[in-house]
Amino acid sequence: MPAAPLLEIENIAAAYGQVRALWDVSFAVGEGEIITLLGANGAGKTSTMRVISGLLRPIGGEVRFAGESLRLRPSRIVDAGIVQIPEGRALWPRMTVRENLQLGAYTRRARAHQAESLAWVVSLFPRLAERLTQLAGTLSGGEQQMVAIGRGLMSRPRLLMLDEPSLGLAPKLVREVFRVIRQINADGGVTVLLVEQNVRQALEIAHRGYVLETGRTIRSGPATDLLQDPEIKRAFLGM
Ligand SMILES: Nc1ncnc2c1ncn2[C@@H]1O[C@H](COP(=O)(O)OP(=O)(O)OP(=O)(O)O)[C@@H](O)[C@H]1O
Ligand SMILES: [Mg+2]
Repeated sequence: MPAAPLLEIENIAAAYGQVRALWDVSFAVGEGEIITLLGANGAGKTSTMRVISGLLRPIGGEVRFAGESLRLRPSRIVDAGIVQIPEGRALWPRMTVRENLQLGAYTRRARAHQAESLAWVVSLFPRLAERLTQLAGTLSGGEQQMVAIGRGLMSRPRLLMLDEPSLGLAPKLVREVFRVIRQINADGGVTVLLVEQNVRQALEIAHRGYVLETGRTIRSGPATDLLQDPEIKRAFLGM
């Protein structure tokens, strides 16, 4: 991992009212890395992402991005270059694909590059090219997920957070989503934090991974090591 991580999470604790979700989460994401968070249902993966994107205020610990402490409103966090692709797609159903994508480019930094970003998104997802004027609500689930990822990219993030991007997609589209994540990272230079039920495929494209258990980080390692690890195989790979 590079000397100065892009994102540093240190001893984060967080709760929803009286319900404690995170006890002690620590990890780092180097610039240019793909990092995957593994953990059983309820382990705290989504909550960790919500803390980073400013939607869940931590009760302890620190988040640093590009060396600076992140204590900002969610909109300012997007301006800083962090984008979380929301679960359940959350597109504007009665607007076209093009309008939905353009809405992603609302930050000042992104507006200047809007045309270029749109061309990039269409090159990543060629099937959106023919559907730019179609209403988003009439797209298939897989196409909607592509637009959701594309909309996030339109803001020109430095860090892209994806929470189960392949959820509910047919195997062929699952492969396409993983291919695109790899491409966004390798060609687009975007750092990626990924949570996926398809643990094997996530570890195959990730550089490193961290394991969460009941709100704590309990393990970390290079993705290739985790793929070989007997405990990981048993817990997450069904072997
Ligand atoms: N809005 C909420 N209100 C109360 N408790 C919540 C809320 N969201 C999550 N929790 C609790 O916080 C804990 C962590 O949940 P979280 O959604 O972060 O887990 P996860 O690792 O993303 O799980 P999954 O794999 O099922 O998506 C769980 O015990 C969950 O019940
Ligand atoms: Mg979750």
